[in-house]
Amino acid sequence: MICSVFLSFVLIETIILIYGTLNVSDVLSTTNSDSYESCSNVCLSNINCVSLFYIPSSQSCSIYSIYQVNSYQKNDSLQTIVGIKTNSTSSKTCPSSFSSIDLSGDVNGIAYQFSSSNSSLSYETCPDGYTQFTRTRGIWCMKLYDFSTAPIYFDTSYCSQYSALPTGFDNADEVAFITSEMVTNSMFQMDVGIDGHRIPSCYNTTTIWCDDYEWSNNYTSYPTYVNWSAWNPSRWTSDFQENQMSIYLWSSSTLVDIYNDISCEGLIYGFVCGVPLGNWDFD
Ligand SMILES: *[C@@H]1O[C@H](CO)[C@@H](O)[C@H](O)[C@H]1NC(C)=O
Ligand SMILES: *[C@@H]1O[C@H](CO)[C@@H](O)[C@H](O)[C@H]1NC(C)=O
Ligand SMILES: *[C@@H]1O[C@H](CO)[C@@H](O)[C@H](O)[C@H]1NC(C)=O
Ligand SMILES: *[C@@H]1O[C@H](CO)[C@@H](O)[C@H](O)[C@H]1NC(C)=O
Ligand SMILES: *[C@@H]1O[C@H](CO)[C@@H](O)[C@H](O)[C@H]1NC(C)=O
Ligand SMILES: *[C@@H]1O[C@H](CO)[C@@H](O)[C@H](O)[C@H]1NC(C)=O
Ligand SMILES: *[C@@H]1O[C@H](CO)[C@@H](O)[C@H](O)[C@H]1NC(C)=O
Repeated sequence: MICSVFLSFVLIETIILIYGTLNVSDVLSTTNSDSYESCSNVCLSNINCVSLFYIPSSQSCSIYSIYQVNSYQKNDSLQTIVGIKTNSTSSKTCPSSFSSIDLSGDVNGIAYQFSSSNSSLSYETCPDGYTQFTRTRGIWCMKLYDFSTAPIYFDTSYCSQYSALPTGFDNADEVAFITSEMVTNSMFQMDVGIDGHRIPSCYNTTTIWCDDYEWSNNYTSYPTYVNWSAWNPSRWTSDFQENQMSIYLWSSSTLVDIYNDISCEGLIYGFVCGVPLGNWDFD
């Protein structure tokens, strides 16, 4: 083991350097560095960097984010250098053995842990069954709950039983993901609940209506571009005010313009829930 400890006094982060290689899926950047010290400073100055790979013979310095490293191999007979960023305050001096180093840290609130015993890297991910999306202000996890065999009345608190929040859509990837799940599950001509409610100044019991919606939380961006489905928003049925939001697929060939307004007395067959991962820039 080469042990060199680099301190970043601002964030209390250090970089542990070992001989070995990394298995990675992508790279943040590759630059020329004249030493592993300067390569370490490149990683320390990038908040997203968790690891570096330095090739002394070519002075090549690559840095990697949390989702780009699959694993690493410590190997003292190699000449290439792997650096691991840690926030441990106990790593200010070289430890007596590699296995006693605390290789944990966090990037923007997402915790990770390098394991010195099995050379693996683990990090916080979305809850089971949730899929990860990158929104402009943070990382968002989404899941479609399908209860089409036992529909329920619209329930704004549905997601709370899973410690999740109702969600709208922030980008086309999310819309494409949820609609493809609905197609897979044959959820056609079935309302699926999402976040969003008509703002109170937009509705009342007379004939005055407008169609401005807001989200119940700030994880979905304002303003939103809502693409209503055919014949919607209908605002009300003969008995009910439709002030909540759902999505509705007529068929597998109508995957755009899917928004519907729905009342709390309307039946829903699924719900779209979301969970934030790490820190958001409004936290
Ligand atoms: C690198 O990691 C990926 C994902 O874990 C794995 O599929 C692949 O076989 C690994 N490659 C090598 C060379 O070990
Ligand atoms: C370490 O690297 C050497 C040189 O490339 C290689 O022969 C050896 O198999 C590696 N050891 C392990 C445990 O991967
Ligand atoms: C380092 O990060 C981990 C994971 O977020 C956290 O549990 C730990 O408290 C942090 N340690 C310090 C000293 O900040
Ligand atoms: C490697 O270690 C991590 C952390 O201790 C553990 O979660 C993971 O299951 C281990 N992986 C294997 C393949 O042993
Ligand atoms: C609305 O439709 C437009 C045009 O098809 C699309 O670019 C946009 O992503 C859609 N927005 C939502 C929130 O579905
Ligand atoms: C409905 O809206 C109209 C126009 O803003 C207003 O005159 C009326 O008082 C409202 N009725 C209720 C019950 O809020
Ligand atoms: C969203 O953020 C704004 C501005 O910080 C705040 O006033 C508002 O209460 C937040 N809304 C929700 C639902 O948290």
